[in-house]
Amino acid sequence: MFPFLQKLLWFMATFAAASAAVTSEIIQPIRQSGDEVALIFVPGAFQRGQYYREIARVIQEASQLRVWAALTDGYDSNYPNPRQLPGAVEGAIKGLKQAGMISETYIGIGHSRGGVVIGSYGRSSQLKAVVLMGAFLNSTLKDYPIPILTLAAELDGRVRITRVVNDFEELLDDASQSKDAIFRTPVINVQGTNHLQFETRSPIPRNITLDIKSDVTDAEALKTIAHYVNSFITSTFSTDATQVKDAQEQLKDDFTDSRKRFQPILDMKALEENGDSCPWAIIVQQYFAGKFADVVVVNNDILELPEFNKSKPSLREDKGKIEIDNTAFIEFEEGYEYNFLEPQSPKEIRLKLKSKAAINDALCQAPGKEPSCRSLNELAMEYALNSSNGYAVDRYNLRGRPIFFEDDIMTSSENEWLSTPLNMWEDDGLHVQAVALVTSINSPKLEGMHYCKVMAPYRALEWIIIDSLRDY
Ligand SMILES: *[C@@H]1O[C@H](CO)[C@@H](O)[C@H](O)[C@H]1NC(C)=O
Ligand SMILES: *[C@@H]1O[C@H](CO)[C@@H](O)[C@H](O)[C@H]1NC(C)=O
Ligand SMILES: *[C@@H]1O[C@H](CO)[C@@H](O)[C@H](O)[C@H]1NC(C)=O
Ligand SMILES: *[C@@H]1O[C@H](CO)[C@@H](O)[C@H](O)[C@H]1NC(C)=O
Repeated sequence: MFPFLQKLLWFMATFAAASAAVTSEIIQPIRQSGDEVALIFVPGAFQRGQYYREIARVIQEASQLRVWAALTDGYDSNYPNPRQLPGAVEGAIKGLKQAGMISETYIGIGHSRGGVVIGSYGRSSQLKAVVLMGAFLNSTLKDYPIPILTLAAELDGRVRITRVVNDFEELLDDASQSKDAIFRTPVINVQGTNHLQFETRSPIPRNITLDIKSDVTDAEALKTIAHYVNSFITSTFSTDATQVKDAQEQLKDDFTDSRKRFQPILDMKALEENGDSCPWAIIVQQYFAGKFADVVVVNNDILELPEFNKSKPSLREDKGKIEIDNTAFIEFEEGYEYNFLEPQSPKEIRLKLKSKAAINDALCQAPGKEPSCRSLNELAMEYALNSSNGYAVDRYNLRGRPIFFEDDIMTSSENEWLSTPLNMWEDDGLHVQAVALVTSINSPKLEGMHYCKVMAPYRALEWIIIDSLRDY
């Protein structure tokens, strides 16, 4: 680039920063000594810097470090953005230095939208670490250049815990290779808290924020959050070996404790895809086999469209043993990967199964009563409830809206089955109605089929831990 152009761009950038209205409120440390660090806060969308005064104070109290804070505020339309952020952080650093801070240990800490922008910015900046509150990193933790703490609220009604679980899954894998991952890129599930409890302000009606009613008071939430932030910054920046050891012990416990709430989500998610096959399709085919499940081996292929439309399950019998090849198609919510407001579980699972009658016939048994697709949805719910931890089940029973399984929509041709979506609607509960196609074992083209469009066990779990808890 021409030096002159570079200079012009530099000038424009400086001018833009100078004209911006972002300010920083500097909060002095409460300790006289200790390793000096500063937390530079970036608020959520349409939130104000002052809403983070309280959490800053509670972190100062929790920590043996000499903690400064800078509360940035006044982004255009109060919407933190990548254009104004560099100037905001530089302004905060200037303010901290003027107020007497000597070390250069600057930690960016962003809530919600603030977390999104500080996460990207932290990749190449003066920051030495980043804390995300009610936000997640939109890329690999392992490759992030500086330590990063992700705080996920268990009852976050905006950034679904089922989105942040992907980062925890990544951490599990990283931790299996290096224990340091738990200290360098912790992902913590903050029990019983919601999206807004990282800040302090007069309540916003939940029907506007979509947030979930928390299990803990605001004061308890701040204390727990401050405890996690302190463990992370102490383990990362303290020069006192005992403090570091204690903080690392805490982070290990926090990892184990978080796992109790994350693992059920991972377990239900694991039922939808394992390589090219859908474990759920295998489980429900075995369920159709009933008391003969022991002699039935099932293989499943997850197919894309149009292959799935054309596929047909098959069954082979050999010396009293049966092998079934069935197929599945998994449909997700549109754009769910980039939209943390959307359910992260499949919208529906389409299964082309062999009927119970076909299995029984191959074993020279009477056809028996064909189970419904509805019974598979009930089974999905049973799996989701059984996998959940006790707190989540109690909470659901206490204040979750119930789930109702309606009788199957019976279709009479493959085309009708293919074009009829799983029917789900919400009122004082969630109604789920599966779509079935059952053909006779003598049907000329489709002998002994039982096709079902069903709810994923993962969707049942999302209902239990998130959506059922929202006000309708
Ligand atoms: C996350 O990354 C995807 C793909 O790179 C991008 O489309 C999306 O806008 C990013 N989301 C955020 C919140 O940065
Ligand atoms: C939210 O709830 C409040 C109180 O119940 C009500 O007055 C308000 O109209 C609701 N707002 C929306 C957008 O539904
Ligand atoms: C699959 O079948 C449905 C129902 O007939 C149809 O709407 C859809 O277009 C088909 N998809 C493909 C890719 O063939
Ligand atoms: C769920 O738990 C109950 C009670 O422990 C048990 O009877 C049932 O078999 C379990 N269901 C599944 C699908 O694992």
